[in-house]
Amino acid sequence: MHSGGASLAVDALSVRYGAAAAVRGVSLSVSPGEVVGLLGPNGAGKSSTLKGIMGIAPVASGEVRLGTVEISGATVAARVKAGLGLVREGRGVFGRLSVAENLRVCARDQSPMSIDAVLAMLPALEPLRSRRAMLLSGGEQQMLSLAKALVSGPSVLLIDELSLGLAPILTARLMATVRSMATELGLGVLLVEQHVNLALGILDRAYVLRRGELVAEPPIAELRADPASLRQYYLG
Ligand SMILES: Nc1ncnc2c1ncn2[C@@H]1O[C@H](COP(=O)(O)OP(=O)(O)OP(=O)(O)O)[C@@H](O)[C@H]1O
Ligand SMILES: [Mg+2]
Repeated sequence: MHSGGASLAVDALSVRYGAAAAVRGVSLSVSPGEVVGLLGPNGAGKSSTLKGIMGIAPVASGEVRLGTVEISGATVAARVKAGLGLVREGRGVFGRLSVAENLRVCARDQSPMSIDAVLAMLPALEPLRSRRAMLLSGGEQQMLSLAKALVSGPSVLLIDELSLGLAPILTARLMATVRSMATELGLGVLLVEQHVNLALGILDRAYVLRRGELVAEPPIAELRADPASLRQYYLG
C-alpha cells in the first residue's frame, strides 16, 4: 500500500455528459481500512461517480483529495501514482499477455504488494500465471483486473461490479478477499456491487445514490437485518 494509507475525500462532485448531469454534488469519504458501499438503482450514477473520481468521466465541478493531495485536475496516471486504483468489469486486461505479464505491466517498485503476494490472495489465479489473458474465463479475467489494480499498490481502490459474470460463490470469495485486504493492509475501498446481499457482508458503511444524488447513509446493521429496506431509498 501507499505509505500509511490515505483517506479519499470527495467534495461536491458533479459529472456531466453534455447537457445531462449524471452525478450532482456528491460528497463522500473513505478512510484507510474501510469498505464503503455506493448503492443505488440502475442508472443512478454509481459508475459515473467512480469514473469521475478516477478522472475518466467528464467532471463538471467538485474536488477529489487523496490524503493531503488534491487530485481533481490530475491525469489518470497521476491519480494512480497518488494511490488511486479502479477495477472495472474485465477492463484493462491485455489478452495477448500472460497473467504474470499483465501483472508485471502494472506492478510498481514502490508498491509493497508484490505479484507473489497478490497471487497468494487470489489463489485461483496462481496456476494460471503463464496463460494468456484472452484464454481466461470471464470470472478469471475479473480476478486478474482486481490483481492488476492491487499490484500497483493503491491506498484507495474503487471497485465497479466485481461480480459481473461471476458465480455467487466466487463473488462471495472475492468479497472476503477484499475485506481482508482492507482490514489487514489498511486499503480503503469504495465498492459498487449489484449483489447487495453479498456486499452487505463486508461493508462498514454505505451511501445510497439516486438520480445522481446521495440520498441516504443507512446503517449497515439495519440493511443486514432487512435488505429489502433498501428499496425505500431507491424509490424515494
Ligand atoms: N458516456 C456516457 N454518455 C452519456 N450518458 C451516460 C454515459 N455514461 C452514463 N451515462 C448516463 O448517466 C447516468 C448514470 O449512469 P451510470 O453508468 O453512472 O449508472 P450506474 O448507477 O452505474 O448504473 P448501473 O447500475 O446500471 O451500472 C445514466 O442515465 C446513463 O445513461
Ligand atoms: Mg454502473
